[in-house]
Formats: sequence, C-alpha cells, structure tokens
Amino acid sequence: MSDAPGPEVGGAPGATGPRRADVLVVGSGVAGCFAAVRLAARGVAGVAVLTKGRLEDSTTQWAQGGIAAVMSDRTDSTESHLADTLRAGAGLCDESATRILVEEGPERVAELIGLGAVFDRTADGELERALEGGHSRPRVVHAAGAATGAEVARALGAALRESVAAAYEGWMVLDLVVEHGRCAGVVALAPDGTVERVLARHVLLATGGAGQLFAVTTNPPGATGDGAAMALRAGLGLTDVEFVQFHPTALHVPALPRPLLSEALRGEGAVLRGLGGERFVDELEPRYVVSRAIAAQMAADGTDHVLLDATSVDDFAERFPSLAKALGEVGLDPARDWLPVAPAAHYISGGLLTDLDGATVLPGLWAAGEAACSGVQGANRLASNSLLEGLVFGRRVADAICDGREGPEPTGALAARDAPAPFVAVRALALEGARPRPSGPASKITVLEARRSLQRSFSEGAGVVRSAASLAATRRALDQAARVLGTLDASSCAPRELVELANLVTLGSAVLTAAEHREESRGAHVRSDFPDEREAFRRRFEVSGAVAALPVLGR
Ligand code: SIN
Repeated sequence: MSDAPGPEVGGAPGATGPRRADVLVVGSGVAGCFAAVRLAARGVAGVAVLTKGRLEDSTTQWAQGGIAAVMSDRTDSTESHLADTLRAGAGLCDESATRILVEEGPERVAELIGLGAVFDRTADGELERALEGGHSRPRVVHAAGAATGAEVARALGAALRESVAAAYEGWMVLDLVVEHGRCAGVVALAPDGTVERVLARHVLLATGGAGQLFAVTTNPPGATGDGAAMALRAGLGLTDVEFVQFHPTALHVPALPRPLLSEALRGEGAVLRGLGGERFVDELEPRYVVSRAIAAQMAADGTDHVLLDATSVDDFAERFPSLAKALGEVGLDPARDWLPVAPAAHYISGGLLTDLDGATVLPGLWAAGEAACSGVQGANRLASNSLLEGLVFGRRVADAICDGREGPEPTGALAARDAPAPFVAVRALALEGARPRPSGPASKITVLEARRSLQRSFSEGAGVVRSAASLAATRRALDQAARVLGTLDASSCAPRELVELANLVTLGSAVLTAAEHREESRGAHVRSDFPDEREAFRRRFEVSGAVAALPVLGR
C-alpha cells in the first residue's frame, strides 16, 4: 500500500490534471462506508468516498428488518444460518463465500455496534432477535423495530466523518478508467458540472442495486445500477442479474419508493390473506416462494394486491414505530385493518463477479454489496442477509487491499468462471442509434417520461412472473428507450437524469438477456413458460456488452 498523502479529490477549483486517491470507494451504503472506515482504521491515508447524493442517501438507509447473524450460539448455529441461506439461494450460492458470510458476520455486527450503531435489546440487555422468512431460527438483529438501515447509515456516516477517509457528496461517477489492463480510476461528474478524471490505485464499486428499473420498487430514486452499467461499458460481464428479488409485502399505495411492511411482521405472526380472507401460503417460506404465491393469488382474485393481517401482532406501535407511522399516514390501523400489499422490486442478487475478497477479474477493481455477485445470494437472497454481505465483504476488500493484494484469485464465485460447466457467457447485442448525441433535435419526450415508460415495461414484462413473450415485449420497450436516449439533447437535460437513464438501459438489457436465456424457474426468476427448475440450468450466466453509451457531458 502506498503511503500517499490524503486524497486530492475535490481540491481547489480550477485544479488541472487528474486528481488522485489511494483507494476510491464509489457509493456510500453499508459496503462502501464500512470498507472506507476499515481502510482508514488500518492507516490508509488516501481514502476517498464518492457518492452522487448525500452520504446517508443510499439504499441502506431504507433497509428495515435487520441483519441476520448468529450473535449467540445457545439456540442457534452458523451451520443453521448457512443451511437456510443455501436453501433460499435455490442451488446457486457459492458455498465457500456463504460460509464466510455466516461465520464472519457476527464479528462484523459486533464491530458495527462498536462504531456506535444502537440495536434493540431485551430487558436484560441481550440483542433482540427476530424471525424472518426462510430462517429456521430468530436471528435477525434490528434497530428501532424495523428502521435498521437508517441506524446503520447514521452510525457509519458518523464513523466515516470522524475517520481520515474523505467523503465527497454530489460526485456522480460516470465510467471506469482502464489502463494497461487494470482499473486506474474513474471519470466523474463533479458538483460544479465539470468532468474530472480521478486516478486511484484501487477502486471499490459499492454502488448498490437497480430497483429503479421497475415502476414499483422499494429502492430510492438513486438505485439505477450505475456500477453495473459502467462495468459493462468497460467490457466486463455481469452474473446472476436475472435474479431480481421482489419483496412480497410492500404496502400497496401509490408512494415511491413503496413503503415496506417488514418481513419481521410475518415473523411475529402476521398472515397473508386473499381478498376473500383465505390464507394461501406459509408466510415464512423464503421470499421467492411467498412472492410467487402472491402473484398466483392476485391472478386468481383478478386484483393487484393481497392483504396482510397483522392484527395479532401485539404492541405494534411500540415495536414497529416507523411502520405504524407509515400506516397512519395513509389512514390504516394495523390493529384493525388488513393491510393491502403487493410484491415490489427490492434487490438484485447479481452483479460484478468477485472472489472471496471482493476482487473482480480486472486488477485494481473491487466490488462489494448489492453491486457485486459474491455468490452468497444465489438465485434468491435470504431475508436480512444483505446488510450482512455489505459488512463482511466490504471489510474483506479493505483488508485485502491493505495486505497488498492487487488482483483476483481463483476463489469463491469467481473460481467458477474457469470451470466451463457451471458458467455460460452470453452477450447483449448493441443497438443501432443507441449513442446519445451531445446535441441534436429536441426529443418530444423528456428523460423522465422515457424512464417511467421503461420502468412500466419492466414491471409488466420482467416482473415476478416472466415468459418469452413478456420479455420480448420488454425488450422492444428497452430498444425504444435506447433510441429515445439517442435523440435527447444532452445540453438541455439534467446530466444526472440522462446518465441514470443510460445506465438503466444498459443494465436493463443485461437483465433481459440473462432472463431470456434462463429457460427455467429458479429462485427469484419465474418463467410461466418454463415453470420448473432444470438441472441443466444450475449454472451462472455472465452477460457482457453495453447497449447504450453515455452522453457527452460536462465542461
Ligand atoms: C424486511 O424487513 O422485510 C426487509 C429485509 C430484507 O430485505 O432483507
């Protein structure tokens, strides 16, 4: 590790030449912040975190239920957590990565508490543990009932600000700089509208997910798959991106992001009912089983929601204050009303393939959290394993960098890339006219309208249940969005909106390609035309190829 001075990102206005950091962390959710704090704690001086919004604006902020970790071995075991995670992952988890997740998780949670995160405790001071779908024991630790993400974001934001790592808000990373076969930094749009090259020895992509591909999502507006799209533009592949998880119980109201009614409610006895009042699924099955059952029930009822009956949950307002508040705002009383819920896009299991330390195939480029495919989520993430993944693998990236690692090793999910059998490479086709122009005839539709239309087509054709025909319809809508992108006048659009649309189109094409190729139903990927799991498809698909270039931006 170099002992370079602190980062020069965001230095004096008008500074010329590339700016530098030792380690550049892109994204400020749990994985990025935890890695940055660890790097700083291990004495790396030049750590810079770039985030396109405010530090605490990431998807982490919105996480509810908590963090799954075996914090006490009296009634639980990491073997049981491992078995539950593998079962939920429907045959596609990498077992070595998953074992690391469950075994290192408890220590990482303890470190998070050491950094100041306050979790709910019982009267005798023990961490409270909730039960969630797919878990065979209550092991989900949580904060303020179901406001865990907000507490994690607060604690890590504070820890980062106190550390020597520097945080730069309002910096939108556009692309990776690749030189001499390694990642050498990024190109970013600075808050003043200039486009800057920021060079770094190591870049960690911790850019989160892409729920904004869908019209109905629990993710905030910034979840646009930026890291995945820039990886595709740099010629890298993405794996497992067809596995988009739909949370079964988002409150069915027109708000965006959709307020979530945490899985912890079902752990406390809330049950799902069709509109006729009948129960139709074991509510504590893994999430994909519940979402599939809800989709079938909605089709049978000819409606767009089912009902969550939480009337048996004692002391609702005291135990879940944030949920009681959200329900109160729309006039619902959980002690009296059955609550309308429907699945909403929540989490993408796939991303940039990594080894057991978060290294990607490109030396100098690392990925962690939702942007990565570490192999621990398989075809369906077990509830409350995502903050855990960010902590465990964010920390491992930091330690590997500090220990002098420069590139990938054939371990974990990345090792499968060298074995021909479990891996299939497919390529997205480039579209004619998909390159946005710096200027040109003003489009009749706005960036926002193009984004909304793309989101609707994904919800309709690439949602909880897909088929060759529905995916083809979504592909046509995506082609149309790419064409619109090519006609938009970059000089008259907000640059961030334009870049986010280009990223959604690029990642969206990869999601469709993988979903088209996966002619089976497995985990979160459900095909009505291929309703069963097929052994021949127990493999990962790697999709490469970018269908939309970025517009020319900046001064
Ligand atoms: C929830 O509280 O239901 C969400 C937890 C998760 O997505 O893991």
